[in-house]
Amino acid sequence: MSEERPRQPSRPSSSDAGSPRNNRPSPPAEPSRRRFLQSAAAAAALGATPHLHAQNAPGAEPTVDAPPAASVAAQPVHLHINGREYALQLEPRVTLLDALREYAGLIGTKKGCDRGQCGACTVLVEGRRINACLTLAIMHDGERITTVEGLASATSLSPVQRAFVERDAFQCGYCTPGQICSATACLAEFDAGTASAATADVRMRPAQLTDAEIRERMSGNICRCGAYTNIVAAVRDAHSAKA
Ligand code: FES
Ligand code: FES
Repeated sequence: MSEERPRQPSRPSSSDAGSPRNNRPSPPAEPSRRRFLQSAAAAAALGATPHLHAQNAPGAEPTVDAPPAASVAAQPVHLHINGREYALQLEPRVTLLDALREYAGLIGTKKGCDRGQCGACTVLVEGRRINACLTLAIMHDGERITTVEGLASATSLSPVQRAFVERDAFQCGYCTPGQICSATACLAEFDAGTASAATADVRMRPAQLTDAEIRERMSGNICRCGAYTNIVAAVRDAHSAKA
């Protein structure tokens, strides 16, 4: 039985020893992918180390990050909402929309885009429609605000609300409070003789509240369900009911 001997690494032959190939300086060892990942992880850990070390140094008092200080103190703001007085403490940066929903608890007004693009937050301030997400509550100190909760009386819906129900002018209903507030002001604006971009001669009172007038005047209120045909019909009905 022959004994198998371990194989020796081959040595360069004497003829290879002087060849240019073997005199070439050997390239630096390439880090393997695993080594690279290990180095990256170690570097990341090192970045966090001073902070951890400062907190956990032997003998040092353990520290707790302080909560960020309130940047501006809250101030008293008085809002007259739906016939009721609200005395609120608000930071000056609180929008009217957040004041209504988060502080006054009136969640009928909806937050859609929070940047003035959808009209879901439309409310009436002193009878004029505005996007509540684009204005600060403190700017309306002492003013009269009407939200969708304030349109109906104790016993009946407003004409616009009734028309929306009768015309089935919604699907999911998310845009509806803003649509109804906007339509309420839209009809008042038309009655006051305000022209719109759809009015043929802006020097004259618009003669008729056509569907084109309604579409233009309500164009700031987006309905993602696409209930526009019924919304226009509801506004037309509410206008006819008043006439
Ligand atoms: Fe105000 Fe969209 S939430 S306009
Ligand atoms: Fe759904 Fe208008 S009813 S967004």
